[in-house]
Amino acid sequence: MEEKTIDETRQGEYLMLDAEVNSNKKQRKLLLESYGCQMNFSDSEIVASILAKEGFSTTRDPEEADVVLLNTCAIRDNAEQRIRGRLDYLSSVKKRKPDMQIGVLGCMAERLREKLLDEEKLVDMVVGPDAYRDLPNLIDKVDEGQKAVNVLLSREETYAEITPVRLNSNGITAFISIMRGCDNMCSFCVVPFTRGRERSRDPQTIVNEARDLFNQGYREVTLLGQNVDSYKWNINNKGEILDSTKPTVNFAQLLEMVALVSSDLRIRYSTSHPKDMTDEVLHIMAKYENICKYIHLPVQSGNSDVLKRMNRGYTREWYLERIDAIRRIMPNCAISTDVITGFCGETEEEHQDTLSLMEKVRYEMAFMFKYSERPKTLAERKFEDDIPDEVKGRRLQEVIALQMQGAAQRTKQHVGKVQRILIEGTSKKSEEHLQGRNSQNIVVVFPKTMDCAPGDYADVLANDCTSVTLIGELINVYPRNIEPVKSL
Ligand code: SAH
Ligand code: SF4
Ligand code: F3S
Repeated sequence: MEEKTIDETRQGEYLMLDAEVNSNKKQRKLLLESYGCQMNFSDSEIVASILAKEGFSTTRDPEEADVVLLNTCAIRDNAEQRIRGRLDYLSSVKKRKPDMQIGVLGCMAERLREKLLDEEKLVDMVVGPDAYRDLPNLIDKVDEGQKAVNVLLSREETYAEITPVRLNSNGITAFISIMRGCDNMCSFCVVPFTRGRERSRDPQTIVNEARDLFNQGYREVTLLGQNVDSYKWNINNKGEILDSTKPTVNFAQLLEMVALVSSDLRIRYSTSHPKDMTDEVLHIMAKYENICKYIHLPVQSGNSDVLKRMNRGYTREWYLERIDAIRRIMPNCAISTDVITGFCGETEEEHQDTLSLMEKVRYEMAFMFKYSERPKTLAERKFEDDIPDEVKGRRLQEVIALQMQGAAQRTKQHVGKVQRILIEGTSKKSEEHLQGRNSQNIVVVFPKTMDCAPGDYADVLANDCTSVTLIGELINVYPRNIEPVKSL
């Protein structure tokens, strides 16, 4: 079985923008493709917003495109190989259309910088995640026949006041980026190098964005950050208040502020970090029904020595205590995770500890990966990548098999119960079925036996399931109330 990654589930989606364009500018066509995590998809919506103002409209067809931008991921080697494959294909198009500009954005751009221009001759532009405001200038530079690079990382940039253009949107669910960068330095991870220092976005702009989305009809927002638990506003890393005339805001308080926008707006977030997740956050989640009962809490390994080598900042016992706290405070909360197999020096016993932890927790969902060594990371400098690929692969299969069992049991627990869901659209498999997700993020599919539409809440009695999906019948519909909400 293939590795299951976030990259693969959403890789290479074409992003269409239909924003108002500035008609004074020359109409040009942009092809914007996004790879990697949700943060990258969210960033592409910022890029789209910046370029819509420059008069770009979008296309899905490279043959039609004047500018092709790939927003890339560097998390594992296979993520980068996928981009290289796409560039190979684009080089054949560029042979026929030499004026077509090709830009590499995002994490791979930041990791490889100018080197990318040498390695991939067709690339005209290399732009890091903090330099998107510079894109119009960089495109002009390429127009003038030069290569263009901006990979400066920033300590301040959060694109706070740029209204993202919602791409490929269902009009119901949207991402809101609440912070950028990461200060954690997990030893396997390239993100601190590609995304720079951690910084939090002004909470008022986050609340405003949530309210605007609600007023446009959206009913679910997902707050995004690499480690949302370390969100902080008006307070520095040493815990000192920056401006004593203004309030400080931590993640629990931010969650509450967004939850108060409307009780009809669902809130999700990703990603929590086990070393930083507080009971305060859990209590706020328990207090508001519209904060979904779902936590993504990546464990990476179930063995404390491996966790130490990974520089994760917690032990197996600490992690399991956090799981107990979630179950104590929110017995109905779903938990998902990320697992890496075959990290440097991982023994068979250490691997068994990951399996036994998974057995204990029984995650609703997991993203599971083979360790992939990344240049410049602590692990690359300090440890040998000494687990043979077959062993990494075999351990991954064991982890996946166990996860599938656990998830099936979790899904089954919901059968026979009424699920409150937010309807998102028609089911992938059949036009006559609709689908939505319950608070625990499980997909619920049902035949359309009553008048209802995406954006409505509904009660569905689950009477059957597959390993990860519930199947049910519609019992009640709560039509979307389109009264706008005002600022508090
Ligand atoms: N900020 C999030 C994770 C971001 S990356 C967190 O701290 O949990 C998403 C996942 O990719 C990680 O949780 C990890 O499981 C995986 N990952 C990161 N670097 C990796 C590497 N070098 N090899 C394999 N998997 C990796
Ligand atoms: Fe990477 Fe660790 Fe930061 Fe997550 S918390 S992005 S795994 S360094
Ligand atoms: Fe990939 Fe960058 Fe996200 S490396 S996982 S796109 S932060």
